[in-house]
Amino acid sequence: MNTLIIYQSVHHQNTEKIAKVMAQVLGAEIAKPETVKIEELGNYDLIGFGSGVYHSKPHRCLFQLIEQLPLQNSKKAFIFFTSGLFPIKFINDFQTPLLCALENKGFAVISGFNCRGWDTYGLMKYLGGINLQNPNEKDLQKARDFAQKLLQIK
Ligand SMILES: Cc1cc2nc3c(=O)[nH]c(=O)nc-3n(C[C@H](O)[C@H](O)[C@H](O)COP(=O)(O)O)c2cc1C
Repeated sequence: MNTLIIYQSVHHQNTEKIAKVMAQVLGAEIAKPETVKIEELGNYDLIGFGSGVYHSKPHRCLFQLIEQLPLQNSKKAFIFFTSGLFPIKFINDFQTPLLCALENKGFAVISGFNCRGWDTYGLMKYLGGINLQNPNEKDLQKARDFAQKLLQIK
């Protein structure tokens, strides 16, 4: 399965760590949104979209990229995030906006993954940050297992 993982990771490279282990399992290429060649996306069977969470949302550059894409014919996609806090409906619901943007573009989003990431934003930095060790080896293994399951979906 020809796979591309597109991710943005601006705070502590937490999401990049997840993108890299998933890419190893999937044999995928990885790219930042600004380097994606839109005309080449047709070469991939599966596209992953990942981001840290910033003010309850994935990075805007992912939305800007998705907006530029042509309408897809149910191309398979998956989403993944690292965040300081757990997803919480209405308060920290970072999955829904990306899911909706992709579905509106005609992607078939087959799965999603999230884990905590080291967070020193705002007040957190005065506390020394939260999730200092994350993503830890357990998180990375969960990301590998998630990618392994994707391999089984044809
Ligand atoms: C500007 C900024 C805003 C953030 N806002 C949130 C938030 O609303 N909810 C949350 O759970 N984490 C938030 N975080 C924490 C990040 O989502 C977390 O550290 C994430 O792992 C960063 O991923 P990265 O290192 O790949 O950029 C924020 C971090 C930054 C820098």
